[in-house]
Amino acid sequence: MSAEDTVSDAAGAISADRFVEISYDEVIPNNVALGSDKQLQRALEGWRPKYLDWWTGMGPVGYQQCEVYLRTAVGVDPAGWAKFGYVKMPTYRWGILLAPKVEGRTIPFGRHKGEPAWQEVPGEHRALLRRLIVVQGDTEPASVEQQRFLGATAPSLYDMRNLFQVNVEEGRHLWAMVYLLVKYFGKDGREEAQALLERQSGQMDNPRILGAFNESTPDWLSFFMFTFFTDRDGKMQLAALAESGFDPLSRTCRFMLTEEAHHMFVGETGVQRTIEATCAAMVKAGIKDPNEVEAVRKLGVVDLPLLQRKANFHASVTRDLFGSEISSNAAEAFGSGIKGRFNEANLKNDDHVLQDATYPVTRVVDGKLVVEEAPALRALNSRLLDDFIVDCQGGIDRWNKSVEKAGIDFKFIQPHKGFNRRIGEFGGKRISPTGEVLTEDQWSTMSGDWLPNDADMAFINSLMKPCHEPGKYASWIAPPRVGVNSQAGDFEYVKIA
Ligand SMILES: [Fe+2]
Ligand SMILES: [Fe+2]
Repeated sequence: MSAEDTVSDAAGAISADRFVEISYDEVIPNNVALGSDKQLQRALEGWRPKYLDWWTGMGPVGYQQCEVYLRTAVGVDPAGWAKFGYVKMPTYRWGILLAPKVEGRTIPFGRHKGEPAWQEVPGEHRALLRRLIVVQGDTEPASVEQQRFLGATAPSLYDMRNLFQVNVEEGRHLWAMVYLLVKYFGKDGREEAQALLERQSGQMDNPRILGAFNESTPDWLSFFMFTFFTDRDGKMQLAALAESGFDPLSRTCRFMLTEEAHHMFVGETGVQRTIEATCAAMVKAGIKDPNEVEAVRKLGVVDLPLLQRKANFHASVTRDLFGSEISSNAAEAFGSGIKGRFNEANLKNDDHVLQDATYPVTRVVDGKLVVEEAPALRALNSRLLDDFIVDCQGGIDRWNKSVEKAGIDFKFIQPHKGFNRRIGEFGGKRISPTGEVLTEDQWSTMSGDWLPNDADMAFINSLMKPCHEPGKYASWIAPPRVGVNSQAGDFEYVKIA
């Protein structure tokens, strides 16, 4: 089993056993018989040059004419869906790929539970469905924009290639959402498809829809934390949408999840390799105490407390993406069969309607954290967030194993759910990583210990020197255990010359 297999998560992966051929002769590779729907084909072929303009204008800066060793989806068979080869990014085959149709599929939850899954947009839920697709679609190009400057400081060609792999696949995810908008939402959908190329991450006048997607990704540590935490929010959202009663959305998301697993692999192993480099340097220099920050930094590696602060920041910003814990919109999306829970179809001892069910939600009441039973239907965001936190823990446990193996006394923890939140039950409340409710004064004295400060960011920045020689790695990050597609250690993942 490769390292990638270990951290990939099968949840939501393709369950079909049928291979669906993709037509690669067409301008837009697809397995949706695009050629038989001329109007749709024309609309998407009209959108394509605008997409390419966006990619060259807002996608990766530099390296666009370099050969990059990328995987391209060539099928949706879980056993072999990708092929690897050198590609110049602007010529990447961004295709429209849906997981195979499951015959006889029924809506697995909500008021319509048990009815045949919809093949067309249900009129009464049209606006809500469109909104969910637009919000999901908006995150895809946003992350490409956030990461566009990172190529220049890549700590190795291996990492640079992984960055570009994530970028082209986020581009493909945009295609996936645009396909749904254009095929199923007529003129509105075409306008939304256009607007997805117009909003820009971090732009004042026309920003991306969700907060975390307007933060910058200024360095590689941020990139790894982003792909670990924020791409995992993507996984949770896609998994919930993969349960949808609207079958084309379900099939689209099921295939996207296959690609998403790699993004989280890049994040988890990126942080892990950073930890490994730190621990190895500490052991070599005979430094036992992880809090000897100055001595550790002099070794050209990232001290573990700083990694914890980075994790605190990215975890808390990402948790805000789940929205208010108590939400009538979430209840409506579930009740109407549009968006399920994580792993919905496999949840046992559950009526999947939740009319009378309750769910424990943590809130702040009179300055204290209390757990209250809330109507489960309205607490779905809270539940998805809890599932996310559980999903994060696996990777964090593996980080801790690396520290333990090196014999260093340090443990990464997830901050309390309420730490540093802006949205929902904890929005504006001051809560420590270990879950104490604080006064504003206590917070301002102590928050510098919990979140990256200016000196931290300047130090990280000082490490961001490119290392672009095949087989070489920057001081602060260890080489991967296995190469991409099992390539040798000195493989030239990006041909820069
Ligand atoms: Fe994505
Ligand atoms: Fe992703």
